[in-house]
Amino acid sequence: METAAIVLAAGAGTRMKSKKPKVVHEVLGRPLVRWVVEAAKDAGADKVVAVVGHQREQVIPLVEGDALVAVQQQQRGTADAVLAAKEALGDFDGAVVVLSGDSPLIRPETIAEMVALREEHQAAVVVLTMELANPFGYGRIVRDGAGEVERIVEQKDATAEEAAITECNSGFYCFDAQALFEALAQVDSNNAQGEFYLTDVLGIARAAGRPVLAYKTDDAEQCLGVNSRGQLAQATKVMQRRINAQHMAGGVTMMDPDTVWIGPEVTIDPDVELLPNVMLMGATTIGEDSVVGPNTRLTDTRVGRGCVIDETVAIEAQIDDGATCGPRAYLRPAAHLCEGAKAGTHVEIKKSTIGKGSKVPHLSYIGDTTMGEGVNIGAGSITCNYDGANKWPTVIEDRAFIGSDTMMVAPVTIGEGALVGAGSTITKDVAPGALALGRAKQQQVEGWVAAHPIEKKK
Ligand code: UD1
Ligand code: CA
Repeated sequence: METAAIVLAAGAGTRMKSKKPKVVHEVLGRPLVRWVVEAAKDAGADKVVAVVGHQREQVIPLVEGDALVAVQQQQRGTADAVLAAKEALGDFDGAVVVLSGDSPLIRPETIAEMVALREEHQAAVVVLTMELANPFGYGRIVRDGAGEVERIVEQKDATAEEAAITECNSGFYCFDAQALFEALAQVDSNNAQGEFYLTDVLGIARAAGRPVLAYKTDDAEQCLGVNSRGQLAQATKVMQRRINAQHMAGGVTMMDPDTVWIGPEVTIDPDVELLPNVMLMGATTIGEDSVVGPNTRLTDTRVGRGCVIDETVAIEAQIDDGATCGPRAYLRPAAHLCEGAKAGTHVEIKKSTIGKGSKVPHLSYIGDTTMGEGVNIGAGSITCNYDGANKWPTVIEDRAFIGSDTMMVAPVTIGEGALVGAGSTITKDVAPGALALGRAKQQQVEGWVAAHPIEKKK
């Protein structure tokens, strides 16, 4: 049987106190709504419909391509939100999974289990439930004398007796499409919030004699809904632990996993060691035997094998096998350290290739530069790539030796094997093998100091 998933993401999320809609907020670099869409796809949904509304211009770009988009014009409740998806589903007649766009921790396996359970029992609906010591705020599962699910009552509509129930509605369901839309037509807004509650569908289906089931999970954590900044941090912590556990199971060492934050798209080879305070985000990849950290943030950066990346920030950079970075290196977009190259202490590199085995060990800025192999850049050297209006290229050929404190004013080429004396300002191309000096001649006056004694002020 075909499965469609509806992701509810039209609400404002007022408790976030944000100018952004709630589902746009991120857990480890991925927006809440995207976590849910990914979970639906991983669970095997044949189509996914995202229901958007509030500030939808910010939500649509996050789901387009992976989900059909349905607009709920006014946020009149979760039942109304599901109805808004009806048109996008067309004459779909399979199982409809409904997911909250603000609940990023749902496991794809759990969704698949709900789908299988509904199918097995030909139920009108399976609702995912959990026991909570503190159920405040959640809808409660009301069961009859025989223990069968009768209906769901929202916190604000609950009697004291109902509010004492600890089995809660997770906000995740699998419906039979026909039963769902039949029941939705009967949902009204006669309740404390004046909203159309999706939760009423259960009572309506049950009254019509259709089987209504609860699937209770032991892993209540996966049902956490993000309604506040506190819950956003909580969800991030849970996801951090989950992702770190996966990497450790895959052979990655972490000295202190509590301080390592890894995005969902990162790949890490076995025998990588991650030291404290490391953030790996975006499409970052790390090759085996590399050591990363402490105090390092890599975004969309490819790291080869056997690299040492110490106290480094790198964004859209490429670090090949055996290269070393830091402590305190900053690699900006299109920085490329070739095999065995080095970007050392307080070194910034942007849109430049540092050739095989070339070294930029201390206090340098290298931008818009193509550097060959075996080059050594002395401490404090800078490629002056910007004239205030345009950026210009620098070429440093194989085995050139650049003395400390050299300013290379681009556009400029330093030939193969050339030697530039320390303290030079290089404004003209240097021929291969040449010595270039571009600094004031040193003067010396013998005995000058003794002839000019400095008297102390009284
Ligand atoms: C809902 C459930 C509650 C459950 C809880 C679990 C209802 C009536 N209540 O309550 O039983 O315990 O989730 O987290 O369903 N949304 C729309 N359009 C709307 C209203 C909501 O798209 O008109 C979306 C929201 O963006 C959100 C989701 O639906 O992603 C849930 O809405 P929310 O207001 O957070 O419901 P809860 O009060 O948490
Ligand atoms: Ca919620």
